[in-house]
Amino acid sequence: MNAENKSDLAPQFLGDMPTDEFSEAGQQLIEWINTYLQQIDRHSVLSGIKPGDIRKLLPTAPPKSGEKISDILGDLDKVIMPGMTHWNHPNFFAYFATSGSAAGILGELASAAFNINGMLWKSCPASTELEQVTLDWLRQMLGLPDDFWGIIYDTASVSSLHAIAAAREQLSDLRIREEGLCGRNLPRLRMYASEHAHSSIDKAALTLGLGLAGIQKIPVDEKFQMKPEALSQAIAADRRQGWRPFCVVATVGTTSTTSIDPVPEIAEICNREDLWLHVDAAYGGSAAVVPEMRHVLDGSERADSIVVNPHKWLFVPVDLSAFYTRKPEVLKRAFSLVPEYLRTQEDDEVENFMDYGVSLGRRFRALKLWFVLRYFGVEGIAARIRYHIELAQKLARWIDEHDDFERMAPTPFSTVCFRAHPENVTDTDELNKINERLLEAVNATREVFMSHTKLDEKYVLRVAIGNLRTEDRHVQKAWELIQTKLIELMK
Ligand SMILES: Cc1ncc(COP(=O)(O)O)c(C=O)c1O
Repeated sequence: MNAENKSDLAPQFLGDMPTDEFSEAGQQLIEWINTYLQQIDRHSVLSGIKPGDIRKLLPTAPPKSGEKISDILGDLDKVIMPGMTHWNHPNFFAYFATSGSAAGILGELASAAFNINGMLWKSCPASTELEQVTLDWLRQMLGLPDDFWGIIYDTASVSSLHAIAAAREQLSDLRIREEGLCGRNLPRLRMYASEHAHSSIDKAALTLGLGLAGIQKIPVDEKFQMKPEALSQAIAADRRQGWRPFCVVATVGTTSTTSIDPVPEIAEICNREDLWLHVDAAYGGSAAVVPEMRHVLDGSERADSIVVNPHKWLFVPVDLSAFYTRKPEVLKRAFSLVPEYLRTQEDDEVENFMDYGVSLGRRFRALKLWFVLRYFGVEGIAARIRYHIELAQKLARWIDEHDDFERMAPTPFSTVCFRAHPENVTDTDELNKINERLLEAVNATREVFMSHTKLDEKYVLRVAIGNLRTEDRHVQKAWELIQTKLIELMK
């Protein structure tokens, strides 16, 4: 910087927001959040705006000089709220309904205040050690064995990517870490997942250089669960044709129907074939906290790795994905690279989480998990998840009892897949159109938000219950709205 460019502000006017201003604004924001959550059902769950509307409310260039924090906070209402889809809304039933919790929000706030980077133990011992301890608590809550070692990533997509990278690294004779995959004489690698596995598994195949041909989709049975005998056959056929099978991904709670792959049988096959077993329990795994639902993770104790997303159904704000493996040394071999500037005296005694993944920098995510686990307790979390499952089972019964609706998949968790099927309509295309229009009509009210899937070319509606604020009356109202809209459509 030359002399002419030097700061025109005296040092006392540099630095951060004055503490009294922060305190006042902070209290205002907490009050604002409190009112927002308390009165969440005064908002429409879906925004009514058109693409580009929010951009139009925003200046095209950054502010030249600083603005008042009160003006910035005021724009939450004026600029941001009109474009919000309210995931906290009790009538949010789309995708997998998730909700952060007040305790989780406070954990996020504390994490932002500390603003540490937990790449090394030394760069923040509390972050590393709290992550180890909270993940061990969660492991116990899920009933997983004590040789499962845990790490927090941002999303299940990234957790599964790391699982598959470790599975690939386990093929140590191929020296992929050292020499890469291209331009040399290697067998083609193949992994396996059900045709209902999440697209993040395909993305992992893309990212890891396996290509889409490197993932073989295994057919499912009438309950949308992977057929183990089809898996065995696919592996045998691949071996005969010179492929090198290396990994199977089983899903506990698939994205469309929440089906549960037969993990015990799949684990048996992986054991026999010497393949890495990764379990994607991003949504369904949380249900294992409920003692009578523990069975959903049967067989997962034999997995090499598993992902469960506390940001999906454990009331921890996005983002927090819990990844466990019993082979952390393989994961470390896949990713550890330590430049000189990141060496510390404690390296031999501690865990440096940067060694176990792509990203160096790591947020202090464990704080929000710690806040949530402590605030609700294991029983409090189990009671809330149990209630969601009960609500979904009730809705499933109403659908089963109605002549003009049918359930399209079993309901093992808290997500109900169904469609309208008026008695006089038999044509699949016509039924698809009716259900597509029904979904549009329900969502157009903006009072309820549901999503859809396709099962065997049939258009299927999904109601996912997982929100802390959802009660019996909300599910009942959604069901009434669905019935009313169908009657209107069929007039
Ligand atoms: C079964 C399953 N796995 C993985 C994911 C991806 O989750 P994330 O958004 O945390 O990457 C989803 C998302 O819904 C999912 O349903």
